[in-house]
Amino acid sequence: MQTQVLPPTPDHLQQAADLIRAGEIVAFPTETVYGLGANAYDESAVQKIFIAKGRPTTDPLIVHIHALHQLAELAVNLPPVAYPLAERFWAGALTLILEKSARLAPNVTGGLTTVGIRMPSHPVALALLRAADVPICAPSANLFTRPSPTTAAHVLADLNGRIPMILDGGSTDIGLESTILNLLSDPPTVLRAGGIPLEALQSLIPNVRYQPRYLTAEEANPAPGQMLKHYAPRAALTVVLGQGSRILAYILAKEQEAQKNAQKLVIVALEQDLQALAVVESPCVSLGQDLAQAAHNLFGVLRDLDEQGVDQIIVRGVAEDGLGAALADRLYRAAEGRVEILD
Ligand code: TXA
Ligand code: MG
Repeated sequence: MQTQVLPPTPDHLQQAADLIRAGEIVAFPTETVYGLGANAYDESAVQKIFIAKGRPTTDPLIVHIHALHQLAELAVNLPPVAYPLAERFWAGALTLILEKSARLAPNVTGGLTTVGIRMPSHPVALALLRAADVPICAPSANLFTRPSPTTAAHVLADLNGRIPMILDGGSTDIGLESTILNLLSDPPTVLRAGGIPLEALQSLIPNVRYQPRYLTAEEANPAPGQMLKHYAPRAALTVVLGQGSRILAYILAKEQEAQKNAQKLVIVALEQDLQALAVVESPCVSLGQDLAQAAHNLFGVLRDLDEQGVDQIIVRGVAEDGLGAALADRLYRAAEGRVEILD
């Protein structure tokens, strides 16, 4: 199959919508990451997503909508807080876990009785949803366990020849996936930190809890989204936290080891943290000046380092406030749990 990468002109949007309505899958930009979409009412179209990504069919997909009235079609017994949340945070990077309606294709939710729903704010995503006129379920448009794609080039690198079309809307704004909020638990629980910080949700749900879980492949039947290895680069990545001087000493020791073993080591940190590492000989890559820039850049940096054939990556971790919680989560998963705390 030929994969076309097209700018989102009105013609190409219509073509993409026609493909979705004909039971095909299409990659498109959202404000978080690129998604790989199918008609959420069409079971065989949804099946194509799992095949193209190499994703286990037990891992459920998020359903995307463009208008609030669609919520009542897709979910039942909505808890009262759902609408105020939707009004405050949609269109945007918040996914609500709700009780699913019978209309959805069963494979969208991997057999669960719940469904994740969000309204993306990216104009191309909204235009596609309106033109297709069906809810579109879409995971991130990467191969299973690869970092999520934040540009059309990332999607092409993973899915070339596996999907008919990628709408190229440039690089995505936030760069990390949506926050997933389970409204069926009491109190409501954030299952995945993401583009909307926990602190913002607390204004409407003061007792909201953050409960990420990290399971290895060996642990039987992980619940959705809890697999530890999920955003892994090919290089071995280690996150370091703690005092600057101890981090520097750690890096210098690892550098000697890497030189002895002829391994390519790269250091990754926020711009201001790199200054303290000026004496390091290994290449250093900046994530940017603040958490928003770091979120925007992280997955692209990991993909670039893979392309360069880097063997080891040491990333200086970030504080878990605001977007930092989502960043720390993605780093922890990319590191498959290798975190050194150097206090
Ligand atoms: O920002 C995003 O959320 C992007 C864009 C494309 O919208 N999508 C995305 O989808 O990140 P995906 O499939 O890569 O991640 C969705 C996560 C998975 O970890 C899945 O297990 C979880 O959401 N999920 C989906 N439905 C769920 C449900 N009913 N209960 C619990 N977790 C669910
Ligand atoms: Mg994903």
